[in-house]
Amino acid sequence: MKTYRIHALVCAGTQCLAAGGNGFKDALVEELKQHGLTEEVLIVETGCMGSCQLGPRMVVYPEGIMYTRLSPEDAKEIVEEDFLRGRPVTRLLWKQDEKQFLTLNETPFFAKQTRIVLRNCGFINPEDITECIAQGGYESLARCITEMTPKDVIKIIKDSGLRGRGGAGFPTGLKWELANKQISDIKYIICNADEGDPGAYMNRSVLEGDPHSVLEGMAIAGYAVGAQKGFIYIRAEYPLAIKRLEIAIKQARMSGLLGKGILGTNFSFDVELRMGAGAFVCGEETALINSTEGKRGEPRKKPPYPVESGLFGKPTVINNVETLANVSIIIEKGADFFRQFGTDKSPGTKAFSLVGKVNIAGLIEVPLGTPLRTIVFDIGGGIPEGHTFKAAQTGGPSGGVIPAKHLDIPMDYENLPQLGAIMGSGGLIVMDETSCMVDVAKFFLKFTVDESCGKCVPCREGTRQMLNILEKITSGLGTMEDLDLLEKLGNVIKQTSLCGLGQTAPNPVLSTLRHFRDEYIAHVKDKVCPANVCSMKAKNN
Ligand SMILES: Cc1cc2nc3c(=O)[nH]c(=O)nc-3n(C[C@H](O)[C@H](O)[C@H](O)COP(=O)(O)O)c2cc1C
Ligand code: SF4
Ligand code: FES
Repeated sequence: MKTYRIHALVCAGTQCLAAGGNGFKDALVEELKQHGLTEEVLIVETGCMGSCQLGPRMVVYPEGIMYTRLSPEDAKEIVEEDFLRGRPVTRLLWKQDEKQFLTLNETPFFAKQTRIVLRNCGFINPEDITECIAQGGYESLARCITEMTPKDVIKIIKDSGLRGRGGAGFPTGLKWELANKQISDIKYIICNADEGDPGAYMNRSVLEGDPHSVLEGMAIAGYAVGAQKGFIYIRAEYPLAIKRLEIAIKQARMSGLLGKGILGTNFSFDVELRMGAGAFVCGEETALINSTEGKRGEPRKKPPYPVESGLFGKPTVINNVETLANVSIIIEKGADFFRQFGTDKSPGTKAFSLVGKVNIAGLIEVPLGTPLRTIVFDIGGGIPEGHTFKAAQTGGPSGGVIPAKHLDIPMDYENLPQLGAIMGSGGLIVMDETSCMVDVAKFFLKFTVDESCGKCVPCREGTRQMLNILEKITSGLGTMEDLDLLEKLGNVIKQTSLCGLGQTAPNPVLSTLRHFRDEYIAHVKDKVCPANVCSMKAKNN
């Protein structure tokens, strides 16, 4: 095998590409040619490394020197100084709080993280299966199908305590066990890669950076429940993830890791992609099934649950991307390894896309139960430009806000609901004092109104009425009765809607009413928006 003196890992994740990563890479290729270094330096295009805000990014091994905010003009200096003379280009290193960091692992952003799901993201070339195999990829699948029974596999996943990362936190092992018990000639595994929450991009990053971990998880799920076919339902707005998945599926088939008789055993499993048109409701599992069948993406009544009657009426396991990316590591290292991280009831780690008013926005992964304060201040570097933390929204339009007085809350499936928030799929939006909480609630509710499929009245009409009231309040025409009405309406919609979209749609309103009622009152009684965001017609007129 050819060896190189230097491996230059250039991030080819969506954010770095959008920031001009390709221009830098092309300039680097040119400089390597000019300096006769093409045989000594290998350029590896990786998925997202996290800290996307500092992109385009590159990490240079063997030392692991990390360069940030790269532009094509930087390529010459990096080649001449670092690659030829061994002197890091200090002006391009990561700087924070007057400190400069040479390598990725030294930064506070990485030091406080535990990367299980994102273990390979940013470290391997996602378009080359051999790099994934060199990191132990597909070893767990091989072990499952040659040494373990489906019941053994389910037992490890149950013992690990892995809970679905798509939002509800349902125990994955239990879901697989229920599907395993179904008697049917055909069963399906569906990977839910719809990811419609505003601000969330964890699933996209895993698929762009390490698609094989998801394919391996799907094949292991297929073996555990007795399914031979898997579908990945992915939104068409994720072209890079789709491209990398297509390459990964092809390479896995060619390597005998997908398809008929995997690794010479009698277990067969293959995967197909299904593109969604980007409707939030299509992430809901029964709507997703309808859409995969080629029907309108409208939710079905449950029960029956998909494990009993799912795709084409057959038992179907639907799991989130991150859930599936956890599977092979649990098989490889065991349930106890996984349980070392997180809490008793919420073991393992969780990936978040940390966005909004935070110094270092990006893709992070922390043990479940990590306090919000650690995420925002230690990892995210705090709030920019001397502003103060006001709240964080978790769970996107299905979730709620966590105010500053609860910054020490452990982020897990048990604690967040106590504040009226939820974990959701991992979108974490940080807000400072310049955000108006009524306006934030209006933003999420508007999203839900636009995305409601319209099938049932409480969601279709009720959320629209709630939005009208919020609009009244933010233009200074609201009354105190409106606040009570919002609460009543919200609770009725939650209880009577057909699917999870309507059942959670009022959450941002109810949660801001609970934690920031004074702001609503200021809009209603004083006709002012304390954050100066809403234009108060009533006062101005
Ligand atoms: C409106 C709505 C949107 C959803 N969107 C997603 C999504 O984008 N990805 C996802 O994995 N789960 C989503 N879910 C949850 C899924 O219905 C389902 O619970 C999940 O995919 C199961 O996988 P898990 O057990 O691995 O979490 C959504 C649910 C609702 C109600
Ligand atoms: S709750 Fe909303 S999204 Fe769900 S079925 Fe009813 S109208 Fe459609
Ligand atoms: S996309 Fe490059 S660091 Fe996230």
